[in-house]
Amino acid sequence: MLNQSRLYYCLIGLFLFTQTSSCHRVNAIKNVGAFCANDTSKGDPNLNPIDQSEPKLINKVQNGTLYQIGSGDDQIYLIHVYGNSGYDFGYAYGTLLRDEVNKVIPRAWQYFEQQIIDSLKSLKLPKWFEDIIADKGLAFALDLQNELVREYIDEEIYNEMHGVADGAQIDFKTVVRLHMLGEITRGRCSLYGLWGNATLGGKTLQLRALDWDVDAGLQDYPVVTIYHPGTSKLGHPFANVAWAGYIGTLTGMSSQRLGISEIGVSYPDDTFGDESMSGLPFIFVERYILQYSDTIDDALSFIADVKRTCHLILGVADGNLGTARMIQYSHSKVNFFDDQNLQPLADWHPRIPNAIYSGMDWLCPSRQFKLYTAITEQYGQITPESSIKNITAYVKTGDLHVGVYDLTDNVMYVANARGTNEQGPLEAYKRQFVKVDLNIEFARQR
Ligand SMILES: *[C@@H]1O[C@H](CO)[C@@H](O)[C@H](O)[C@H]1NC(C)=O
Ligand SMILES: *[C@@H]1O[C@H](CO)[C@@H](O)[C@H](O)[C@H]1NC(C)=O
Ligand SMILES: *[C@@H]1O[C@H](CO)[C@@H](O)[C@H](O)[C@H]1NC(C)=O
Ligand SMILES: *[C@@H]1O[C@H](CO)[C@@H](O)[C@H](O)[C@H]1NC(C)=O
Repeated sequence: MLNQSRLYYCLIGLFLFTQTSSCHRVNAIKNVGAFCANDTSKGDPNLNPIDQSEPKLINKVQNGTLYQIGSGDDQIYLIHVYGNSGYDFGYAYGTLLRDEVNKVIPRAWQYFEQQIIDSLKSLKLPKWFEDIIADKGLAFALDLQNELVREYIDEEIYNEMHGVADGAQIDFKTVVRLHMLGEITRGRCSLYGLWGNATLGGKTLQLRALDWDVDAGLQDYPVVTIYHPGTSKLGHPFANVAWAGYIGTLTGMSSQRLGISEIGVSYPDDTFGDESMSGLPFIFVERYILQYSDTIDDALSFIADVKRTCHLILGVADGNLGTARMIQYSHSKVNFFDDQNLQPLADWHPRIPNAIYSGMDWLCPSRQFKLYTAITEQYGQITPESSIKNITAYVKTGDLHVGVYDLTDNVMYVANARGTNEQGPLEAYKRQFVKVDLNIEFARQR
């Protein structure tokens, strides 16, 4: 674990990134060399008790019910949507969260627009797309991007966005544009999937730590949405963790005991394929898995066959089969890893039996190794509580939000970054987690 070799890997990453990548990040550009090479600081344990209070009923409409979970500054909206179409889901959501959607979307839009225009040169977008943003503005460019991906997106997703827009009385195009941003600005995040001997009692656990932008105000109105499809064409019940107005999936669990997690890659190596701006945006790849896949095998086949876009690392875990996989993802290539063949194989990213994991990026030695240390030091004793206490907090990952999934007991734990005018630490991994019992929520009737 020489510092030098860490530095070397990150510089190689930087080199490859600037030479070949056509995918595009905002945050990842700044100081990543130091971020991946030199950070050895360890975080303090998170000693907040987990909030286990009952959901409080807030409001009800024909196809939806709104609750609040958590307490004080760590409250989260828990919304149930029912229906026979995407529009039913979206309309109930937009109606119940109208005020919140109208606060989050304009602020996030304004923030990201400024960020993207200010750092356009460092985004490494295809030149033609960069020129369009510079000449015609971000809204125009994202509308064009929407045309490139439209044919891959299920019509019911657009119907749901229409429903959100109509219910919340906000411009439909703005809602669509917000959902195109994920392909342009990806966070560096962390994930694990643990099963069998790795955990206490052999539970299947999964981590999704989202390190994205905490300055866009997304965390002011965090929302866990429970979808209750009234028809099999809309899949099965699932839970999506996001913010008011956002229906893409970055974080969530399904009633089939599948969990999903994702990392945006800024430091790939040459084992990744190329990237494309046309295909199914990854937030809808993840959502499709939660909504429609019955087993991990279904999810992996879907990923193998779908028209993929950017460099990513995905995690999928299956609580029924008691296993997890990590996926090295790009437009032209895809690789599936279990604990026996996990990549990248390096002294800073060793394999662990009954575990897949990735800390912050692909070639990110210091962060990868920190996650390795945290998992191996608790090996065999890991629970959701111990992970919250001293894995994410130790590694310092998950500033915007963190989801810990107990796929054996069907329970999810969620924390969010400090919102505007809230107290306490900024980063989600330092804050109070809220327990969501999905046995109860998936069964909740309208
Ligand atoms: C890492 O730390 C060393 C020693 O403090 C320093 O010389 C080097 O420039 C740092 N590397 C980066 C990429 O910041
Ligand atoms: C909501 O649900 C009812 C039946 O449960 C349905 O008739 C109605 O069209 C739904 N959608 C909207 C957008 O109100
Ligand atoms: C799990 O632990 C048992 C007991 O130590 C051992 O026999 C078994 O090989 C382990 N399984 C794996 C997959 O490492
Ligand atoms: C937290 O985890 C680190 C690394 O695994 C370990 O060294 C430390 O003792 C743990 N602290 C507590 C309070 O459990």
